[in-house]
Amino acid sequence: MRCLSISLVLFLAYSAASTLSPTRRSYHSHDYYVIELDPHGSISLTDIADILEVEVVEQAGELANHWLVRAEKPELNPFRDSDRVLETFKTLQSRSSSLSLRSDDVARHFASSIKFLSKQRPRQRVKRAPPPISPADGNLARGIAERLGITDPLFKDQWHLVNEEFPEHMMNVTSVWEMGITGKGVISSLVDDGLDYTSLDLKDNFDATNSYDFNDHEDLPTPKLWDDHHGTRCAGQVAAGKNTACGLGIAYESKVAGVRILSGPITDVDEASALNYGYQDVSIYSCSWGPADNGESMEGPSQLIKKAVLNGINNGRGGKGSIFVFASGNGGAKGDQCNFDGYTNSIYSVTVAAVDHQGLHPPYSEACAANMVVAYSSGSGQHIVTTDKGEDKCTNSHGGTSAAAPNAVGVFALAMEVRPELTWRDIQHLCVETARMINSNDPDWEITAVGRPYSYKYGFGVLDAGLFVSAAKEWSLVKPQAWIETRTIQLNNGTMTEDYGYSGGHFISQGDGDNKGVMSAMTITSDMLQENNFESLEHINVRVWIGHKKRGDVEIVLISPNGVKSVLAGQRQADKDQNGFPGWTFMSVKHWGENPVGDWILHVSDQGIPGVNGSFLGWNMIFWGSSIDATKAKPYELPEEALVFPPPNDTPITDAPTITPTDQGVAPGENTNSTFSTSTPTPDEGYFSDLSNLLSSQKWFFVAIGLVIVFVVGISIFLWRRKAAQTKRRDYESLPENEETALRQTGGLSHQARSQGAGRTKELYDAFGEVSDDEDADEETHLTMGGRRMSDEHTLSSFHSGFLDDDDSEPPTPLNGNRGRLDASTSTSSLARNYRDDDVVSDDEKTTS
Ligand SMILES: *[C@@H]1O[C@H](CO)[C@@H](O)[C@H](O)[C@H]1NC(C)=O
Ligand SMILES: *[C@@H]1O[C@H](CO)[C@@H](O)[C@H](O)[C@H]1NC(C)=O
Ligand SMILES: *[C@@H]1O[C@H](CO)[C@@H](O)[C@H](O)[C@H]1NC(C)=O
Ligand SMILES: *[C@@H]1O[C@H](CO)[C@@H](O)[C@H](O)[C@H]1NC(C)=O
Repeated sequence: MRCLSISLVLFLAYSAASTLSPTRRSYHSHDYYVIELDPHGSISLTDIADILEVEVVEQAGELANHWLVRAEKPELNPFRDSDRVLETFKTLQSRSSSLSLRSDDVARHFASSIKFLSKQRPRQRVKRAPPPISPADGNLARGIAERLGITDPLFKDQWHLVNEEFPEHMMNVTSVWEMGITGKGVISSLVDDGLDYTSLDLKDNFDATNSYDFNDHEDLPTPKLWDDHHGTRCAGQVAAGKNTACGLGIAYESKVAGVRILSGPITDVDEASALNYGYQDVSIYSCSWGPADNGESMEGPSQLIKKAVLNGINNGRGGKGSIFVFASGNGGAKGDQCNFDGYTNSIYSVTVAAVDHQGLHPPYSEACAANMVVAYSSGSGQHIVTTDKGEDKCTNSHGGTSAAAPNAVGVFALAMEVRPELTWRDIQHLCVETARMINSNDPDWEITAVGRPYSYKYGFGVLDAGLFVSAAKEWSLVKPQAWIETRTIQLNNGTMTEDYGYSGGHFISQGDGDNKGVMSAMTITSDMLQENNFESLEHINVRVWIGHKKRGDVEIVLISPNGVKSVLAGQRQADKDQNGFPGWTFMSVKHWGENPVGDWILHVSDQGIPGVNGSFLGWNMIFWGSSIDATKAKPYELPEEALVFPPPNDTPITDAPTITPTDQGVAPGENTNSTFSTSTPTPDEGYFSDLSNLLSSQKWFFVAIGLVIVFVVGISIFLWRRKAAQTKRRDYESLPENEETALRQTGGLSHQARSQGAGRTKELYDAFGEVSDDEDADEETHLTMGGRRMSDEHTLSSFHSGFLDDDDSEPPTPLNGNRGRLDASTSTSSLARNYRDDDVVSDDEKTTS
């Protein structure tokens, strides 16, 4: 114990002297826990460590009064039972509340001094990663390059910066650069799988001080696994320098830090520390990852991570708040929705979905009422060209919502050079105000109560750097945040125990969404606005308790007093979870600016199979917005997590009216067609995005026949074209076989050689022409399988790389000299498949190590 106290003293002295790098963890030998101490509690940290028999490691990231402690794993100590620490904690807690043991002072002091204790379990987050490549063509952007002295060889291929083919579809950054705004003085942190700071494109803009590796607990975020290139690619989009390597970042004179968390399982305490790492210097955290995008999970940050995010919001950047940018997710084609991901549906994150180089919705990009904006990324055969891992390596195969988020980060960095005082909410307001409507024929667009177009797919529209930065220059800062938390409505004595024991509630009758199910109304009065110092509305949270035997069947729609609907949960066929919605929190930005006074109605319906049913137990809401009187505003504090219904610290409303759904009034411009309906794909989604639905219906039969016909026609064209090509080749084929082989061995041509090797297949693609960019979505499959390989997955992937991929359909981009060599290893579909396999293997290794 003495030894412990001494090390504690040493540790405290050290941590007072400097910000401490987190120490290396040893999960194989120790169990880790985070405890929160009541600063007014009567027992010191040392005494608590004594009682629990744990060793204090360090403060938990940037969270005040939170400590990481550890105890030897029970396996290594046969005399200890399985979870001694948790058990001691529980025992003391119950002894302190038990009246019969009034004299139990230690227990009482102990329980009143610990506010929170959580065991740390390593978990793996999933990258929202890159679909395969299709090189850009054409000769781009020469004029701009000349004016700005840009010599980056791949600048001309970066269509997201200058799009000559579809000029209205680009991030519109060059007008901002021409004003001399390039992100100077702004630091963005790439919370990802590492950052190659040796890259010629990144080394001058790399910020080592605010970088850290939470996977291996080292100071620098060195990419080590063979597939650790994701963070480097994202970093290149933000801050690749103006030089002779690859292309340019959107904020090419800003700085990037790398925080490595995705290269192995990490615990909550490390994820929490990562999201606050360097939070006084860093302005923006770029997060292109999250829970699996498989259309069946519903997962969010744990309480500890929520605390870290709120800590960043309240205290980061000297109180102006960290900007958290999250990729909306790549599960669109699997029916996944970003409101089932607690990171993307947090009010504290700017959720960014993707749109492709033609302004179309790529099938992988997830829709939901929490989407704020879209940014350009892969789809319709084009990908993002950016820096890659390696000294002078580039890639033209980056994409997914993973690549959309860093494009937004780059735009925010430009704005923050001009207006560093923008708070986290100013950034969100600027998104709402300046996002540009695109693809306006898409029926997903609806006009909100304040006349702004909104879409679950596109949010308020595409982020436009020119419009964003111009508006930022003139922007008056918003007043501090205010909120209204409603009481909880409890329906028909509904209750839920900690282990999902549901009882009571209002039965959800099944059938068509418009006139079945149950509706419950919540009234907001203007007195409530006054009492809560609430001026104008921004985000809305809706928390629901619904017991159901197949969660994916439940549809939840919020209807505002003005008749504007937010679909919070659409059907998710893959979601077979039997525990319903045990207090899940949804979010909508669709009511931004709307007057909240009146009756809000929550419509819960069940579109599914009879006999698989459920009950609606209750709900509550939080309206977030700006305050009337800034001087009365206070920072929000995270309440304790309530795992039971009704929440213990609330007096539920038990007589709230329920309504039998009939035809509801619909606001003008309101789209009555469900965004998440699985019936008709909108034209821009392509037919293959609906493959999974087709499989379960008889439509599949006709589609199959269609495919056979297309195949036969394709083969005929292919044979005809091959014959034509052979005839032609005879005329100018002069390269002897051995010379060709020699050429193949030179590095720069390896790429070409491969496509020659796959020559026949390539012609087959040519015969088909562009098919669909659905591989973007399918490419994600391997990343969301959580490390398990399914045998038919392999067949499926070969099927797709054989027929649907368009990534080999064109020869590789001819590159400018030897500079900016593309990473050939990711450019052919056969290798992409290996990549998938290897990825799975390395995931397995990660979880078992
Ligand atoms: C690009 O930004 C400029 C302002 O810098 C703006 O005038 C222009 O309209 C923007 N272009 C598009 C297509 O939005
Ligand atoms: C709820 O419970 C109370 C007391 O247990 C009972 O009087 C009341 O009838 C119940 N209401 C419903 C709708 O079941
Ligand atoms: C609801 O489901 C249960 C079985 O899960 C079944 O016994 C019951 O009859 C169903 N109720 C209705 C109204 O369909
Ligand atoms: C809804 O869908 C139907 C056909 O499915 C279409 O005729 C109608 O125009 C759509 N409504 C809107 C508002 O897009």
